[in-house]
Amino acid sequence: MNDNLHTLRCFGCGARIAGTDARPDFRCAECGDLFEVDYAGWGQRQGHDRPNPGALKWLWRERRCSCEALDQSGVWRYRELLPILDNFGNAVSLHEGNTPLYKLKRTARALGIDQLFAKHQGMNPTGSFKDTGMTAALSVARERGFEWVACASTGNTSAAMAAYAARAGLRSLVLIPDGKIAWGKLSQAMDYGAVTCQLKSDFDGCVRVLTQIVKEAPIYLLNSVNPYRLEGQKTPAFEIAEAFDWTVPDHLIVPGGNLANSSALGKGFRELRELGLVARMPRISVVQAQGANPLVRSMAENNGGSMQPVEAHTRATAIRIGNPASWRKAARVIKDTCGWCLDVSEAEIAIAKAELGAEGLGCEPASAVTLAGLKKLRAQGKVASNETVVLLLTGHTLKDADYTIHFHRGTLLNEPETGGYEQQLKDLQRNAVVVDPSPAAVLSVVEEITR
Ligand code: F0G
Repeated sequence: MNDNLHTLRCFGCGARIAGTDARPDFRCAECGDLFEVDYAGWGQRQGHDRPNPGALKWLWRERRCSCEALDQSGVWRYRELLPILDNFGNAVSLHEGNTPLYKLKRTARALGIDQLFAKHQGMNPTGSFKDTGMTAALSVARERGFEWVACASTGNTSAAMAAYAARAGLRSLVLIPDGKIAWGKLSQAMDYGAVTCQLKSDFDGCVRVLTQIVKEAPIYLLNSVNPYRLEGQKTPAFEIAEAFDWTVPDHLIVPGGNLANSSALGKGFRELRELGLVARMPRISVVQAQGANPLVRSMAENNGGSMQPVEAHTRATAIRIGNPASWRKAARVIKDTCGWCLDVSEAEIAIAKAELGAEGLGCEPASAVTLAGLKKLRAQGKVASNETVVLLLTGHTLKDADYTIHFHRGTLLNEPETGGYEQQLKDLQRNAVVVDPSPAAVLSVVEEITR
């Protein structure tokens, strides 16, 4: 089970190739679709070859007490289900994963749900879920001898890639849309020493340019078309199942941008089920911003059979993506698990983000679509009061401090965006106030609030 026996299987035509034979853009030579890492016949193995679920569960728990660097990673702790390296000594880790699962008591009460949790992937080393994917794919880049790695990004992928490349001693190239990513993320790419190019284009334009570049230069592509990214990003599914003592929640709600994360989590739960580690999968629902909702449209119009790109607009810059690469994989996960695909407005995102902040968690706007989506699903009767729900929060609140400050100052949204939500928005705003330097002046502010 520890042998590196993986192949890459095309998601479109089923063609199989060796990992080392992938083209630089990770597209299938036959049909142009994306690949998935495949561990042939895991589920069908018999006898000694068949993994023992009890032994794996015990081993993974024991590793939480280990002093080995690899064991302290919440990704490589599960390395029996990640045999993508010839030598695990090549793994590049920043102690990613092992992120908290918080109970959201107040929000649960407000929504009339018994069990509501937030799996906070923003608590990873660079502040987003991308670290779990980056440790996996960048380790493959190192093992294969690349000197340069690159990604196009709305900010978090570039922050994660730059950090892991720096740890591994590799050079990194970042393409980001000029003026359309949060400062916190841009500053990270610079801090970790990436060569950072701001293109006068959007995310989709950056992807187009980078796809050409990797065909012309020996640079390893670390966008989520790289199937090894998804191998790392499937591990929060293992953490969630472990946290629920190998049962699974009824619902997992995930933000949708380029749609790799929902695909990866679906793969994680599918593998756990195939290996007999869990009995069923949660319903996995994907939430997009209304202005960047190509999968929502595709599911509504043709049940995910085809997808028309859109020109994307949303203040949740992380998910400002109009032509998501992994839409086919995500559509399959939603259908296989009987989940839903829905979109939420700018005001709904802003309100949900403020509510998560008021629970003492905080997250970036793209993560808050999960709570906004849950409210809709609950209102439509698609989530029952006795069901267990996990929201996947993808990024740390400090990633986009500008958004939060504008929200509380009341300068975030324009009039058409606030439509119908003015009072709710006002009730949540806690702007900082300028006060005379005297106890009486400060106490009068406190009295004003408590009155
Ligand atoms: N949430 C955050 C905070 C993100 O940064 C992203 C994607 C998503 C959700 C959506 O995940 O693309 O797998 O559906 N950010 C990418 C980036 C695209 O470049 O950082 P997805």
